[in-house]
Amino acid sequence: MTTPTIELKPSAHPLSDAEREAILANPGFGRHFTDHMVTIKWTEGRGWHDGQLVPYAPIQLDPATTVLHYAQEIFEGLKAYRQPDGSVATFRPDQNARRFQRSARRLAMPELPVETFIEACDALVKQDKAWVPAHGGEESLYLRPFMIATEVGLGVKPANEYLFLVIASPAGAYFPGGVKPVSIWVSEDRVRAVPGGMGAAKTGGNYAASLLAQAEAAAEGCDQVCYLDAVEHKWVEELGGMNLYFVYGDKIVTPTLTGSILEGVTRDSLLTVARDLGYEAVEERVSVEQWQRDSENGSLTEVFACGTAAVITPVGTVKRAGAEWQQSGGEPGEVTLRLRSALLDIQRGTAEDKHGWMHPL
Ligand code: COI
Repeated sequence: MTTPTIELKPSAHPLSDAEREAILANPGFGRHFTDHMVTIKWTEGRGWHDGQLVPYAPIQLDPATTVLHYAQEIFEGLKAYRQPDGSVATFRPDQNARRFQRSARRLAMPELPVETFIEACDALVKQDKAWVPAHGGEESLYLRPFMIATEVGLGVKPANEYLFLVIASPAGAYFPGGVKPVSIWVSEDRVRAVPGGMGAAKTGGNYAASLLAQAEAAAEGCDQVCYLDAVEHKWVEELGGMNLYFVYGDKIVTPTLTGSILEGVTRDSLLTVARDLGYEAVEERVSVEQWQRDSENGSLTEVFACGTAAVITPVGTVKRAGAEWQQSGGEPGEVTLRLRSALLDIQRGTAEDKHGWMHPL
């Protein structure tokens, strides 16, 4: 595989310091974008080429561009954190790069070399370093690498041209309530992904498929939808855009990866962080019946959601057809908050990075 260099073409008109500071004071999630973006092309027979860092701008696409019709698209999400000494580091970008390759394989797209993925993220963060929020708060710079099929034509086949991009967005809490517990609607008829399908790939189609179920969750008064497996409609899979963890005292459990669950980097990191803190951390199947029963008999002490965007978010109320219950009295649980702090301390550079997860720039 070829590794293109990234040519720097910085913006002549970046936002002023005052405009940027006003955004950083209240960034929200995914509402504002930094001054630059990275683009790299792929063409059949030529491979990856024309890597560039350019001013953030709309991209022009022919109306017959294949991604607009057949959704050959994949994406990633990772964050850059301001460290105590003012420097910046990203969290486990190699894991995102590898998952991006797995997603590419599933959608018959070319695989971007891991080092090119990391180089592209690094180039953007270095150029737009002033956009990385101050050390110590909930805020970070969210990076969104993605790839689209850019061949023009209506034939259904893997495209012969692709565009890889990285954009960046300063991010506060994903949920407006911050670490306030979210409520969950367990959907027992809609499914997110099927065995042999695209559930493990990070592709827009999975998120498009989640929107109706998410709207149904909202109609039930809940913040998020939880999916069960597509075969037995029994085993807990994940939320619309996050993985789940169940806390049984000193044991924490996350559903076993089945091929239809997204292999979350935060999910994976927490298995290690929890073990480092002395918890037993395991991957097991969890049924919705078990979830309800163990919450009602008190053995299931906390539930939380995790993902790059949401970090760790406690689950409060849970609803399914005919039943409703609360986790940890509707308050953030002790283990949830402990794991959240332990992970954030590593990411913010205030705890030892013993697994070499931080990637300094
Ligand atoms: C993430 O946590 O990075 C996600 O991709 C979830 C969502 C924002 C799509």
